[in-house]
Amino acid sequence: MSNDNASPILPTPQNSKQIMWQTPAAKIIEQKPIIYKSDVMVQLMKMIERVAASNANILVLGESGTGKELIAHAVHERSQRKSRPFVAINCGALRETLLESELFGHEKGSFTGAYQKKIGLAEAASGGTLFLDEIGELSPAIQAKLLRFIQEGEVYRVGGKDPVKVDIRLICATNRDLEKEVQLGNFREDLYYRINTIVASVPPLRRRKEDIPALVNHFLAAHSHTYVSRGRQMDEEAMKLMVGYDWPGNIRELQNVCERLQILSEGHVIMLNDLPDNVRSPEKKDETAEYDPTITLGELEKRYILKALGHFDGNKTQAANALGITIKTLYNKLHEYGEFEKFAVHQKPVK
Ligand SMILES: Nc1ncnc2c1ncn2[C@@H]1O[C@H](COP(=O)(O)OP(=O)(O)OP(=O)(O)O)[C@@H](O)[C@H]1O
Ligand SMILES: [Mg+2]
Repeated sequence: MSNDNASPILPTPQNSKQIMWQTPAAKIIEQKPIIYKSDVMVQLMKMIERVAASNANILVLGESGTGKELIAHAVHERSQRKSRPFVAINCGALRETLLESELFGHEKGSFTGAYQKKIGLAEAASGGTLFLDEIGELSPAIQAKLLRFIQEGEVYRVGGKDPVKVDIRLICATNRDLEKEVQLGNFREDLYYRINTIVASVPPLRRRKEDIPALVNHFLAAHSHTYVSRGRQMDEEAMKLMVGYDWPGNIRELQNVCERLQILSEGHVIMLNDLPDNVRSPEKKDETAEYDPTITLGELEKRYILKALGHFDGNKTQAANALGITIKTLYNKLHEYGEFEKFAVHQKPVK
């Protein structure tokens, strides 16, 4: 298989880190440092150390932006497979047919446009780790194929008749409640039990606030070369507010705020007044609000979705992620509310 002239360069220990895949859904990433101080994260990282050495399949659960991909990569880096590729695929980013051929490859002429034979990412990850992000988004047809792949340890390229042996460690992640999806009939139970040998739950940032100052300092230091010496530190009062805020978008939101603070800050130290409004005076949470018999569930959902869009400056991808719905569902909802045009173009407010 490695002499397929139409396949991407197969990762080897030497080149695995350099390979760029010709698809937005898959990438090979460098391990970034994992910053933490909290007990829950200490425990989680201990668990990661223990399970990394095994070949067990791991399911990483957690809200959007909590660091699931980082954890998956950490498992790989601590395993015996670390010199082999870590291939990450976002299952929610591609439509079904494209995902299947990306994952399993295809034979020449197997569908319109398949001019050449191509090996899939599962095959390319052989010897290493395959990370399936947003596993909850897989269609039933792909779920069935994935199950067969996990059980048999071999792939069938689209349009191919002969199976190809593949040796991978599988790590999956989702921000959905997969157990519920199984009960609802959206996710195969047999597949669920195959992928969840070990479950690693990454807690939301609001449950590990001890991590916030360390993360802030880390992110402010990380970009300091870009904006020469501006906004490298945070004033104590400002830090208190950062710790007090609930971070619904978790670490990704915190990282964005830190980056923005650095660009906008005038001096060396970031002060209270520099912080974004939502961090300085967070809105009261709806979940604590009293029951209001005049509001229907549908109306509440609409308000919440529009609030999420406002929170992420109209960025639909981030809003959908934080809401735990697919971008397609978000579009459908916006059409339903007659608000689609308003959010058709992603605009950031001018500061
Ligand atoms: N403990 C941490 N220390 C440093 N950076 C972190 C940490 N956790 C997450 N990050 C950073 O936050 C960002 C989001 O992390 P990641 O992509 O792993 O989250 P995720 O849970 O996979 O999100 P999503 O559900 O949206 O895919 C990344 O840039 C990541 O490097
Ligand atoms: Mg992710």
